[in-house]
Amino acid sequence: MPAFTSTAPGKIILFGEHAVVYGYPALAVPVTKVRVRATVSARAIVSGDMGEESAGVHVIAPGIGLDSPWSALKPGGAVRAAVGSVFATLGMSQPPPCTIKVTSTIPIASGLGSGAAVSVAIIRALAGFLGHPLPNEQVSALAYEVEKIHHGTPSGIDNTVVTYAKPVFFVKDQPIATFTIPQPFTIIIGDTGISSPTKETVGDVRQAWQANPERYQRIFAAVGSIAKSARQAIESGHPKRLGPLMDENHYFLQEMGVSSPELDRLVNAAREAGALGAKLSGGGRGGNMIALVEEGEADAICLAIRKAGAVGTIITQVK
Ligand code: MEV
Repeated sequence: MPAFTSTAPGKIILFGEHAVVYGYPALAVPVTKVRVRATVSARAIVSGDMGEESAGVHVIAPGIGLDSPWSALKPGGAVRAAVGSVFATLGMSQPPPCTIKVTSTIPIASGLGSGAAVSVAIIRALAGFLGHPLPNEQVSALAYEVEKIHHGTPSGIDNTVVTYAKPVFFVKDQPIATFTIPQPFTIIIGDTGISSPTKETVGDVRQAWQANPERYQRIFAAVGSIAKSARQAIESGHPKRLGPLMDENHYFLQEMGVSSPELDRLVNAAREAGALGAKLSGGGRGGNMIALVEEGEADAICLAIRKAGAVGTIITQVK
């Protein structure tokens, strides 16, 4: 059986995080500069060495120090679930001996969709290796089941944008809508270096919403209209209009309680250095912020964000 490799990009949410969990629209785009790569290859079995471990599936992820038989991975863990979902889908009780190697350049727990990208890359590579490549719809659905382990109550936006690797206007439980970008624009992604699991911020917002449903419903609805206006601005070829919309969306994320002093510092530094707008992106409390910039000013604004504490910056063209 020949080896099979698959990759999946990172993602950023341009508008609508958190509100999207409650049925409001959000916009997300792939970030192809960072990727997860999964390679599945046959494992040679030395004769006389047919122990369970050498006969089974082995998973290696050097970036997180993982080197383990699949069957020994923590039950309920994302990698174990992603692999298991493929075997279950293909009705395979005795998978052929193989090694799954996962490498990634996407920072973990930073709002760039690393969890979804790991699931998508593994699911695609393993299904391909086993001779049953799966369509995007099924890859995304399986990755969504894994996301539930990461996030508790995810909207499904991360697995969708990472699977299709296209800009998406996402509304939970509705058919996927990709959209075109007639006028490309430049975004800086600034990393606070603070790891912040999405499951926690999503859980905290849920608690706050339960305690004060009317206030939160108003905030979510406002964020949903921002996402709709943003799609209109992009599709009509006026990406500069996204700047003020980002600022407004960041204000509502602060109101939800998911920003942090570190995120606010980077957002303010970007604005002061000339960004057209800036906001946190993803779950919040850490992870990444994004800023809309003129292409020629991107390097100077990256420098300002780094001076304000960012541990890393990525400049990406959204097109
Ligand atoms: C995480 O990238 C985006 C959130 O809206 C959670 C979700 O949609 O599942 C915070």
